Amino acid sequence: MPIDTVQAVDTSPISTTPPAGTDLDPIWAKVVPETRARNNDIHLPISLAYAERLCAAHPEADSLVVRVAILLHDTGWGRVDEERILSEGFSGDWRKADIRYEHERQGCLVAEEVLPELGYDDAFVARVTAIIDGHDTRPEPKSLEDALVRDADRLWRFDHTGIALAHGWFKLTPSAYMDRLEAEIIPELQTSAARRMAEADLARSRALLKASVLR
Ligand SMILES: [Fe+2]
Ligand SMILES: [Fe+2]
Repeated sequence: MPIDTVQAVDTSPISTTPPAGTDLDPIWAKVVPETRARNNDIHLPISLAYAERLCAAHPEADSLVVRVAILLHDTGWGRVDEERILSEGFSGDWRKADIRYEHERQGCLVAEEVLPELGYDDAFVARVTAIIDGHDTRPEPKSLEDALVRDADRLWRFDHTGIALAHGWFKLTPSAYMDRLEAEIIPELQTSAARRMAEADLARSRALLKASVLR
């Protein structure tokens, strides 16, 4: 059963609520090179916007841990062999590919490099790396914050921007990719708030991209 909330859930297009504030800008500034890999410069900011919506729906979560973890979770892609990202990272049993574990390890190293020099203490860094480590490969989340990061990591795909970028990674047409999101990714979402956002985005994206005809 997904984790429920009594709070309001914003299901409007994500472009209407960009990432708020500038408190994380010093972290962004330190990972610019790592955002150049695998469209992280699109994926990470949009996922942060979704993470902030999920935190608004779950005020009991530590939102700073969630926001920093989602910002950094995939920076490890910037430190692995670019060729292997597509050859191993998206084909066959891609969730179990070595390159997946490697990007998680490297992402933890990025967090351990960048956060202490910006004044984040060891306990905070450890909470962030506990989420980054295994974010793609561990079957279950370890905390509410972990669950919200997982959901934010998936939600960006339902927006038309995510569909435009990611359908080609999986060698699927946009409509086939949207069918797969509905069948495989919505059931993986940990919170009912994320499921509602995903369903609203998917309906908008299908209409916008004429998925009923372009099959
Ligand atoms: Fe990842
Ligand atoms: Fe990701």
